[in-house]
Amino acid sequence: MNEALSAALQRASRHQHRFEARFAAYFDSLTDPAGGTFEIPPHGAFPARALDLVRDMSLRGGKRLRVVLLHEAASLVTEEDVPGLDDAAISIELLQTHGLIHDDIIDDAPVRRGAPSTYYAYRRTFPDRPDTALAMALLAGDLAAFLSLRVLLTGGLPADRALALAAVHADTAAATVTGQMIDLERDFHPDPGTEFLHAVTEFKSTRYSVLAPLRMGLLAAGTDHAPYDAELRRYATALGIANQIHDDWLDLFGDPAALGKPTGSDIRSGRRSYAVTALRSVCDDAERTLLDGASGDPGCDEETLDRIRSIARAHGVDRRLRDDAHEHARRAGAQAATWRERWRPEAVAFFEHMPVWSVTRDR
Ligand code: IPE
Ligand code: MN
Ligand code: MN
Repeated sequence: MNEALSAALQRASRHQHRFEARFAAYFDSLTDPAGGTFEIPPHGAFPARALDLVRDMSLRGGKRLRVVLLHEAASLVTEEDVPGLDDAAISIELLQTHGLIHDDIIDDAPVRRGAPSTYYAYRRTFPDRPDTALAMALLAGDLAAFLSLRVLLTGGLPADRALALAAVHADTAAATVTGQMIDLERDFHPDPGTEFLHAVTEFKSTRYSVLAPLRMGLLAAGTDHAPYDAELRRYATALGIANQIHDDWLDLFGDPAALGKPTGSDIRSGRRSYAVTALRSVCDDAERTLLDGASGDPGCDEETLDRIRSIARAHGVDRRLRDDAHEHARRAGAQAATWRERWRPEAVAFFEHMPVWSVTRDR
């Protein structure tokens, strides 16, 4: 690993560690018996349980990539501590919690972040009342979304900045919802095409995972993002696509031990990922029949997946996906390099190296 990349990763892990403690303290402050800031109804146990599940899901987060991006975006323009930046970080992660809780309902996913999804936790609580389980999971997801907005407006940000960040928040959250819609629609198309896949990536994940942290970090640090928005978007879009192609590649060709989950889930759930779409566009009729038979079959076995992998390798799909991911990462890095003339070099270096890391990670 080169020196600049490892320096970037060290900066990232400092932000991560600080944030974990800060996020736990935030949840404590909501319900502190000696003066919590969030009032829950004095009767009934459902609200407290929902809040607990939101807390559990939030605190078992992984790489905190969005938090790192947010802090580094502020570092582009200042080395001072930025008031309210922690609140913005909490807001972004709560928006992610909201997205995950609802996503696991949409995708009927039993496991998230190594433990039961919120929906399945409720299904276990209410084995004979599936409607209640669904309703409570929806509401827990809603709670996370509104807490995410609330922390921006009631935390340590100066009022004008809080309002500017809340505008980004609302815009981002709405965009993500539309992304979830086209994510569902994509799988109705046998061959959605690259532009469709790019649009799904952009709306379902890039906007809230990359673009919003960039915009919010600059705004919190007192810099209007509007004059730079076109370049921020180019960076975010390229990084988002690179990251998603790599994710889809990992899902087919990755090492399950490193990933911490079985591979092949995109095929088993019938998802038209970058990998599946690329393979479908080059294989012959017999191969396509095999692939389409496996697609959406939750019971598809390892042997079939292995045959699909060999077919993909024989057609060079493996290589092509890696090349595409690297090409988009290179574009993002090149965009960040142009920021050097304007912004602080350590943070610029982080944004330059982030895309490379994103397409070389094994999990
Ligand atoms: C999750 O999308 C997107 C949001 C949380 C908005 P996916 O369904 O593609 O991702 P995973 O694999 O469940 O995380
Ligand atoms: Mn999902
Ligand atoms: Mn989904």
